[in-house]
Amino acid sequence: MNDQLYEEAQSFIRQFYIEKGKQGLEQRLAQVREQIETSGTYDHTYEELGYGAKVAWRNSNRCIGRLFWDSLQVFDQRHVDKEEDIYDVLLQHIDYATNGGKIRSTISIFKPKRHQEEIRLWNHQLVRYAGYESPDGILGDPASVEFTKRCMELGWKGKGTAFDVLPLVIQIDGQTPKWFPVPEESVLEVPLRHPEFEWFQELEIKWYAVPFISDMRLEIGGLHYAAAPFNGWYMGTEIGARNLADDFRYDLLPTIGEAMGLDTKRNASLWKDRALVELNQAVLYSYKADQVSIVDHHTAAQQFHVFERKEKEAGRDATGDWTWLIPPVSPASTGIFHSSYENRMDTPNYFYQQPPYEKNPSAK
Ligand code: ARG
Repeated sequence: MNDQLYEEAQSFIRQFYIEKGKQGLEQRLAQVREQIETSGTYDHTYEELGYGAKVAWRNSNRCIGRLFWDSLQVFDQRHVDKEEDIYDVLLQHIDYATNGGKIRSTISIFKPKRHQEEIRLWNHQLVRYAGYESPDGILGDPASVEFTKRCMELGWKGKGTAFDVLPLVIQIDGQTPKWFPVPEESVLEVPLRHPEFEWFQELEIKWYAVPFISDMRLEIGGLHYAAAPFNGWYMGTEIGARNLADDFRYDLLPTIGEAMGLDTKRNASLWKDRALVELNQAVLYSYKADQVSIVDHHTAAQQFHVFERKEKEAGRDATGDWTWLIPPVSPASTGIFHSSYENRMDTPNYFYQQPPYEKNPSAK
């Protein structure tokens, strides 16, 4: 009998029954034990799965948006096992979560890893822009260069713009992955404009509405769900201070600083800071105007403090990774900056896993 698995299973099941005040813990533990003894593994009930996915969010130390952990919509897709069917339910996830802009936090959970069998989504996010290397620099998102190459090797071809949505790449049990296009109608995007700067829209910058993380492993009670894509909604700075601003991403601060007429030759003119504020303003303004859910970093930080208070009331201490929780713009203007957190990783949780396309160096 797999003692380690039973240990992890029972600690999770125990937590679930106690936290929910549910009857029948001993019977359920006996059942789990028996299933592990006879088959080497066990199955979660739908209730256990849903609770596990929510608590995994609650335990995600780097996430500032955890106040809403209990409202996660959980789709149990453990019965789906063909690439085409996985593709179908991924599109359903995208449509359900996008909801015309009124974003719903959602997770779709596929069957857990068993021996050599596992489902892997090669995408980092279900919707993300391609990045192409060219002699005069990178076109699109530099963070996607490696994955974009893999997609092209599999036969996908992009349009060659800075905002080509990558295909969904689905792999079952280590076989050759299959790729599928994300239909344009499924991808909600927001063209950026600025409340005061008329010229801003001419830069033709946009971003997609929903961040769907698709490469993390959900671990619940000793079971490993390698394919469990989930989404929340954006905090403005993720787009305005990182994706579009980092010099190793879209690197747009020089463009914006110059358009603003700032002295981009002198650090002390604070042109970067001023460009950052206006870019972030444009993100929040445009999402709001298009009625696409988004939160600014001041509000998100306040919500995080409410989360901390509610956790205390429930007899728990919120754990956290301070280096990630502080926003990248005006961090010291939020309460988080002046607090400290224990960065202890409890399970259930979401974990990084090695990209499957890096596993086999000969395929490079
Ligand atoms: N930071 C990532 C991005 O900019 C998304 C991470 C998840 N974010 C979220 N708000 N749930 O695409």
